[in-house]
Amino acid sequence: MATLSVCIGSSCHLKGSYNVIQTFQQMIEEYHLPDDTLTFNGAFCMKQCAEPGVAVSFEGAVYHVKPEEARSFFRETVLPVLERGRQ
Ligand code: FES
Repeated sequence: MATLSVCIGSSCHLKGSYNVIQTFQQMIEEYHLPDDTLTFNGAFCMKQCAEPGVAVSFEGAVYHVKPEEARSFFRETVLPVLERGRQ
């Protein structure tokens, strides 16, 4: 199972982590991802506060995702890995 975590520390909160979480949740529903495909959770500060965008960790790598990029990030980075795992 893959793990997707969004930083909910104070700096990322100001940069829109709530919106990133909402977008990811919507997309998990839109794509009807089974419960055992993805663990999705919030995380404490990932020490990426100085970077632009909200810190998001996925499969051990850390990304910086602005709220307006959350949909394309999910589609281009998260979905392909999940689809590979289902084959
Ligand atoms: S608050 Fe998110 S990386 Fe520090």
